Amino acid sequence: MTTERTQSDSDDRRMDKIVALTRRRGFIFQSSELYGGINGAWDYGPVGVQLKRNVKDAWWRSLVEERDDIVGLDTAILMHPMVWKASGHVDGFSDPMVDCKLCKKRFRADDLDNAICGQKPSKRPGQCGGELTEPRNFNLMFETFLGPVSDTSSRTFLRPETAQGIFVNFANVVATTRVKIPFGIAQIGKSFRNEINPRNFTFRSREFEQMELEFFVKPGTDEEWFHRWVQWRRDWYIGLGIRPENLRLVPHEKLAHYSRATTDVEYRFPFGWGELEGIANRGDFDLRQHQRGIRTVARWDGGDLQALQLVEEEQDWHRGKLSYFDEETKQRYIPYVIEPAAGADRATLAFLCDAYDEDSAPDAKGQLETREVLRLHPRLAPVKAAVLPLVRKDGQPERAMRIYEALKRRYVVEYDESGSIGKRYRRQDEIGTPLCITIDYDTSKDGTVTVRDRDSMRQVRVSEDRLLELLDETIHREPR
Ligand code: GLY
Repeated sequence: MTTERTQSDSDDRRMDKIVALTRRRGFIFQSSELYGGINGAWDYGPVGVQLKRNVKDAWWRSLVEERDDIVGLDTAILMHPMVWKASGHVDGFSDPMVDCKLCKKRFRADDLDNAICGQKPSKRPGQCGGELTEPRNFNLMFETFLGPVSDTSSRTFLRPETAQGIFVNFANVVATTRVKIPFGIAQIGKSFRNEINPRNFTFRSREFEQMELEFFVKPGTDEEWFHRWVQWRRDWYIGLGIRPENLRLVPHEKLAHYSRATTDVEYRFPFGWGELEGIANRGDFDLRQHQRGIRTVARWDGGDLQALQLVEEEQDWHRGKLSYFDEETKQRYIPYVIEPAAGADRATLAFLCDAYDEDSAPDAKGQLETREVLRLHPRLAPVKAAVLPLVRKDGQPERAMRIYEALKRRYVVEYDESGSIGKRYRRQDEIGTPLCITIDYDTSKDGTVTVRDRDSMRQVRVSEDRLLELLDETIHREPR
């Protein structure tokens, strides 16, 4: 038996196995699978939703609950369309795209090297003899209409980032809480981007969940905070078990329109390095833009937003609604913002990929067979322990059920009495359950149970009175 990662698998095969396991065990299904599926949207199954909740809870806990300087928010997906004009998304949130005149498929013009031809999958777009159109900009926001009339004045968008919900509530939070700069506002929620080519399983999806923090600081202190947040955010993934060698920090050379500096935390997925989270120094871009936006909205006649000009900045912009009065220095200013913006689905996928492993375990006849196991950090594991009567007789199910009832008051645990014990262990290994608790003939004699560790498969006998304590220790232990 080995706990070493199998090195011989090609990365493609490894990814295929991870996708197959997540399907087989009910982590992730394709959206609308029954109807043939739709591209770029995914459903989380019973254990997947639990895993993703644990990821989001760990994020929320580490930022909102464990710190004194961050508060939470939950804002609407639908927002005033002027929000997206002011933020720059109406005018600039686009990718260049080209169409193939032969197969009519659409591709990102800046990513043709990674795209697959619609007619000949071994070729790149344009290599099949089909002519590609000139690149055109394609806005990634999904449009929708508020109310029954579909015209420009009722048009709005599904939010492409949760951040703007935070910026437009900045003044509300300052007015209703005791926050003082430096402080942050955190939010978890769905966002939508009409990606031209969604791909790599849940990595690039059209509907996804973000975990975003906007941390407001005094101008001039922003660089220091930026570097702190980059390190803190990298450490968060390591604290939950991601191997440090599978993470890297990548500073951006080309910056988004709102950014003064950005560094990505990237993870080495089997399909290559990919961004888990971007930490950006957004300066005062957003709050200033919204000061312009709230002055522009009064002049908006409901016409096309793209044609609309935002009003110029006021001379005394720092006196506007979105400025901040610093009691300590008696200064008024527009704060700068450091934004660690993470993807909940990407983080979940990274934790799954990092946890996936194969080793060998004896089958029912004692022959070694390949075992697939998710070595998830116990805090993230969807199920913390499985309670398993060895046989379905001699009072074992009743005793196991009593243990299960006691443990489930504190933790997500499962009771399972179906099939051989080996099969039941294998299922728990594949969903990443750290402990299996087996009730057997000795339990009725001396009140002990067998506790099997997922990673080492070692078994120890433990008094049933100690189980809660053991679970506490397991869940709060340091990562491997
Ligand atoms: N708010 C930054 C992003 O969505 O990437």
